[in-house]
Amino acid sequence: MSLKLTWHGHSAFALHDGSHTVQIDPFISGNPVATISADLLEADAILLTHAHNDHVGDTVAIAKRTGALVTATFELATWLGSQGIDNVAPANHGGTVAFPGGSVKFFPAWHTSSYQTDDGFVAVGVPAGLVVRFGGKTLYFAGDTCLFSDMQLVGDEGLDVAILPIGDRFTMGPEDAAKATRWLKAGTVIPCHYNTFPPIEHDAAGFAQLVTAACGATTLTPLPGETVGLE
Ligand code: NI
Ligand code: MN
Repeated sequence: MSLKLTWHGHSAFALHDGSHTVQIDPFISGNPVATISADLLEADAILLTHAHNDHVGDTVAIAKRTGALVTATFELATWLGSQGIDNVAPANHGGTVAFPGGSVKFFPAWHTSSYQTDDGFVAVGVPAGLVVRFGGKTLYFAGDTCLFSDMQLVGDEGLDVAILPIGDRFTMGPEDAAKATRWLKAGTVIPCHYNTFPPIEHDAAGFAQLVTAACGATTLTPLPGETVGLE
């Protein structure tokens, strides 16, 4: 089985195994570095780390159009259900949800989780990191989080790929993400949540150097819109 990963920029990724497509945190509309329209995204499943608008993104529109299964922590998934999505699977930390072609296990993340509406903020769910088993690989999408020592438990999940925020300010910066890479014991690390907006500008090449100093992982740095094969 061959697995392909596309970075839409920010924390938005797509996984394709040849039969199924999974979208993670599909923030496309309003994402200044996205290279595709949300109207063109296919999805059998949509996996969300938390409720912030730069992660929920176009979930409602994509789910309504495709019928994709949407899974997130309990309050967020249930709230999205109230927004007109039929196919939701609420979950919480420690739990695993099966989706077409794979599964996702929810882990804690240290962050906040609210959705900004025209009437103000709605607090929905708690932030999560996602261990995704799909296309013969095990991938960790840390979501938005600081470094925390229980990432070492995530490292026991047999990860092939770790996808980590490096933009600082709202999440880990490059130094902490390099330390996380060592704890997670994945062979490949992919940075995200950087260079979308001025406050989170960072240098992926500098992150790759920190990773090389910290452990033996390979750093992949796709450009927004680029697809890479994960063999
Ligand atoms: Ni966030
Ligand atoms: Mn974010």
